[in-house]
Amino acid sequence: MTEKNSLTLIDNRSGRRIELPIMEGTQGPAAVDIGRFYRELGYFTYDPGFLSTASCHSELTFIDGEAGVLQYRGYPIEQLAERSSFLEVAYLMLYGELPTRPQLDEFTDIILHHSMFNEALKSFFRGFYHDAHPMAIMVGVVGSLSAFYHDSTDITNPRHREIAAHRLIAKMPSIAAASYKHSIGEPQVYPDNRLSYTGNLLNMMFSVPCEPYEIDPVAEKALDLIFILHVDHEQNASTSTVRLAGSSGANPFACIASGIAALWGPAHGGANEAVLRMLDEIGTVDNVPRFIARAKDRNDPFRLMGFGHRVYKNYDPRARIIRRMCHEVLDKLDDGQDPRFELALRLEEIALQDEYFIERKLYPNVDFYSGLIYKAIGIPVNMFTVMFAIARTVGWVAQWMEMIGEKNQRIGRPRQLYVGPRQRDYVPIEQREPAGD
Ligand code: CMC
Repeated sequence: MTEKNSLTLIDNRSGRRIELPIMEGTQGPAAVDIGRFYRELGYFTYDPGFLSTASCHSELTFIDGEAGVLQYRGYPIEQLAERSSFLEVAYLMLYGELPTRPQLDEFTDIILHHSMFNEALKSFFRGFYHDAHPMAIMVGVVGSLSAFYHDSTDITNPRHREIAAHRLIAKMPSIAAASYKHSIGEPQVYPDNRLSYTGNLLNMMFSVPCEPYEIDPVAEKALDLIFILHVDHEQNASTSTVRLAGSSGANPFACIASGIAALWGPAHGGANEAVLRMLDEIGTVDNVPRFIARAKDRNDPFRLMGFGHRVYKNYDPRARIIRRMCHEVLDKLDDGQDPRFELALRLEEIALQDEYFIERKLYPNVDFYSGLIYKAIGIPVNMFTVMFAIARTVGWVAQWMEMIGEKNQRIGRPRQLYVGPRQRDYVPIEQREPAGD
């Protein structure tokens, strides 16, 4: 981070002038440091939705939304997707460099050996009603981990932070699979450390004690790829939530639970589930124009799920990769039979030629395709966002560790533009008039 230039602002109201330093990163737009703004001018800056606000500096992920570029620690997502593995990317995010073979072997071993969770946690699952959404279970169970792992909640101790990161990455698949098993009334399956990270997840979700289960290598590989694509995405809603919760000194398990809650919404991680539900609602290709018209109608709240992105104003690079994978997986696992894939392609084609979508630079995002792959693998729709949460845990913990490791780290505390009533006096209840009369 360097400061070379400054921005001069003149306040027309008071005639005062202020010089604000411009901070240059290594790539992407520079940022104006407005830390002194309120102190010197007495104004807050106003930026609802944070359209122009950098909330932190970070070495983890770089996105160029105009060019459709995504890099983790400088490595293009295309190269990682083609040549790396989820756990290798996790190592890269936590430690800053790609691991050597012995480093990767050791890291894999550590993660696999943290995959079981405390037996007492099992009773938490039983407390949920059978039709609880697995994301609701995830928020509760992950939040409760701090009650079990006191030896990794001292956030001032770097070793505690590291163990908490390992535990979270390792236990997420086990918790996710247990949530699923609970929802379908089957016994929970323990992790098997002979299996890969995604192989283990598939085994815990789909095997039953009474018969053998064979992991499909196509599904195992596809999940690993999807997980790489979802590892991190700089300061999105859930990551910002994790950072904000963490800035108060909350323990890492509580912070990640808050990230899971933020991810759940349909404008964020819940979009993959919403895409499938939307495709089911559209039903056939003939209905596509009607739904496109609804998406364009300002008076209709309907939006094309899986389209548009706050940062990408070009094709989402993850969508490009996953689109290819989608063809491959559906050919192998589904024989190209799922009519929703054809429907999705037709929807994409029509939307990409439509003036409304072109003007607003609305392209399919990663969630447009991920749900189709999950479906082909046999993952139920209400588990889609859980899959996202497993992968994004790596980004959340890496971002949390980066923030907590900073010198002079402070609590996040945005301000507001107050538009409520001015001061008024309390009126005794007998003397009050009904509001609006
Ligand atoms: N369908 C129809 N119109 C849309 C859509 C859409 N999916 N997305 C944006 N627009 C329109 C929007 O109505 C607005 O039009 P106008 O300028 O006429 O008012 C314009 O495009 C700009 O939209 P915005 O709401 O200001 O954009 P945003 O940056 O606040 O929202 C978004 C980004 C992702 C929340 C939004 O595009 C959306 O709701 N997409 C559908 C949900 C989705 O797929 N989410 C997954 C995002 S990727 C994975 C992740 O981050 O978790």
